Amino acid sequence: MNEIKIAPSILSADFAKMGEEVESLGRCGADWIHVDVMDGVFVPNITFGIKMVADIRRHTALPLDVHLMIVEPWKYIERFAEAGADYISVHAEACGKKTGETLKAIRALGKKAGVVVNPNTPASAALDVLEDADLVVVMGVYPGFGGQKYIESVGEKIAALAAEIRRSGRKIELELDGGVTEKNAVSIAALGANVLVAGSAVFGAADRRAAVARLKGAE
Ligand code: DX5
Ligand code: ZN
Repeated sequence: MNEIKIAPSILSADFAKMGEEVESLGRCGADWIHVDVMDGVFVPNITFGIKMVADIRRHTALPLDVHLMIVEPWKYIERFAEAGADYISVHAEACGKKTGETLKAIRALGKKAGVVVNPNTPASAALDVLEDADLVVVMGVYPGFGGQKYIESVGEKIAALAAEIRRSGRKIELELDGGVTEKNAVSIAALGANVLVAGSAVFGAADRRAAVARLKGAE
């Protein structure tokens, strides 16, 4: 099994103390920082946008994994790239036929391109654009809110995508976003996901450093 990377989601942070929150994640063993951008249209919730990415960029050297839950994401990718995103992920459901060209546009900006699939979207939506992707994100919950329960049935999709990624011979990261806990993290990674997003499991823990270690499978 690959080493598990943990990407805490700042959706569960105190937004009024974001600089400190992001700095604390660096000290807790986080590998990436997951940044959930929601527009109130693609998902029924609103978070923050480009300026938040630019501001947190000054508080961490960790890779910023920006998850765009917005309609017409291609309109904003250049500005998220300039703000300091390292990975920019767009939903297959938001892009439709434009998914491949949106991933290409992200790469043309010198950034890593991710395709995200909702729990009810088939693996084929990601496989169709695999050649343009550096990251595939499988949602373990319907996007919009932190702290939801992991939908077990996405496990099959994780395993299928992991097999295709191996077959491609390319280094493509496979991330599971939503519902990760200390109880299910290791079994999700065993299915082939090598990056686990964790919002409530990290921010809700009394000891965040211990929580990150346990999510990676250490006791
Ligand atoms: C869901 C977001 C997440 C998720 C993570 O819309 O994309 O990144 O909330 O939070 P937890 O780990 O609490 O499910
Ligand atoms: Zn997310």
